[in-house]
Amino acid sequence: MKRRSLLLGGIAGTLGLGAWLRPRDLGQNHSPYFVSLSAALDDDSQSVPTLVVDRPRLQANIDTLLSHLNGRFDYRIVAKSLPSLPLLETVMRAAGSNRLMLFHQPFINQVAAALPAADILLGKPMPVAAAHNLYRQLQPGDFAPARQLHWLLDTPERLTAYGDLADSLDQHMQICIELDVGLHRGGVNSDETLVRMLALIQASPHLHFTGLMGYEPHIVKMPVGDPLQYRDRAVARYRHYLAIARGYLGETWPADVILNAGGSPTYQLYDHGDFPFNELAAGSCLVQPTDFDISTLADHVPACFIATPVLKALDTLKIPGIDLGRLQSAWNPNRARTFFTYGGDWKAAPESPKGLIYNALFGRSTNQEMLNGSRSISLQADDWVFLRPHQSEFVFLQFGDIAVYDDGNIVDYWSVFPGATA
Ligand SMILES: Cc1ncc(COP(=O)(O)O)c(C=O)c1O
Repeated sequence: MKRRSLLLGGIAGTLGLGAWLRPRDLGQNHSPYFVSLSAALDDDSQSVPTLVVDRPRLQANIDTLLSHLNGRFDYRIVAKSLPSLPLLETVMRAAGSNRLMLFHQPFINQVAAALPAADILLGKPMPVAAAHNLYRQLQPGDFAPARQLHWLLDTPERLTAYGDLADSLDQHMQICIELDVGLHRGGVNSDETLVRMLALIQASPHLHFTGLMGYEPHIVKMPVGDPLQYRDRAVARYRHYLAIARGYLGETWPADVILNAGGSPTYQLYDHGDFPFNELAAGSCLVQPTDFDISTLADHVPACFIATPVLKALDTLKIPGIDLGRLQSAWNPNRARTFFTYGGDWKAAPESPKGLIYNALFGRSTNQEMLNGSRSISLQADDWVFLRPHQSEFVFLQFGDIAVYDDGNIVDYWSVFPGATA
């Protein structure tokens, strides 16, 4: 072959490869669902970034969860992932459960005051000073902490400190022991520690053993291996510690013992088989943020969105300084247009219109966020952009009251827990 045709062939090949590598136009206007949601927000005079929960979708996720539990386990609602009292009340009613898992002392005080029938299990061990503050701030009412509050404790040292606090306050306390069943985020990891803790509880006039908790989200996160193998290993550890505790406590084993496990990513792994727990915890899967788009939650539907107004819609992309915007949009049709949204830089992914992308060259902004999209997107100023939160526990607290969407209308607003730690 002649050198010239080799060269031409090379150029044509490069161009062909370039055309093949060039991103496709992924832009699409809002689907009918998001057209209706936009209209509902406009009808309600919404004008600022808003967290929306779709109530029928929330209900569908509750039904899905209950159909998996199928009455074989009690359901404990993970409040940190649903950080709003009216949202929690809605889930408690729909799921027929008064069991909550909480992770933040001030929220426990609020729940005790507002939902006095709740049965509260802590999701993490707290400094003993937080426990002291909780009792100090507890308002007189129907909530009986000696029966309805279960502290989660992880070490003999913390147990001793709680025992001292209980004695000084003359306050009976229910104690649940945190097990390490493979996550290695603390908790009891030896028979000897477990027995020491049980002995301390038995010796205390104010502490009472209420159960065990072994959280195991790692079993679906391992890069290699079968999740069911990891599940079985976690279950075997749980069973082992349970047998020790039962054997040690004998006659004093509580009739209404709490044997807690699970979380959104894992709860469906207990659909079939025999397991040592009597309750499973989950929260996030009821609103289904993007971090939970995993195969074990394939039948859950997204039920929460961030809605934010478009402030500016431009038909070009310009980057300050050496303007690489034209180059970016020439290469990628999904960078032909530019939108600036009201607020931004949330832990969230653009959802609708389809094909919106962030621009790393321009950067992120909590004030006016740049999004790029193709010419197939006919978004204009004052239209709405929708994002899906990556997780709910922190993102839900960033917008004020949650707008509740139901069949074409904003039907309610739900207050969120004040403060930023779920
Ligand atoms: C102890 C414990 N149980 C359960 C969960 C599950 O929560 P979710 O269902 O929201 O993932 C968590 C989440 O962090 C947890 O820490």
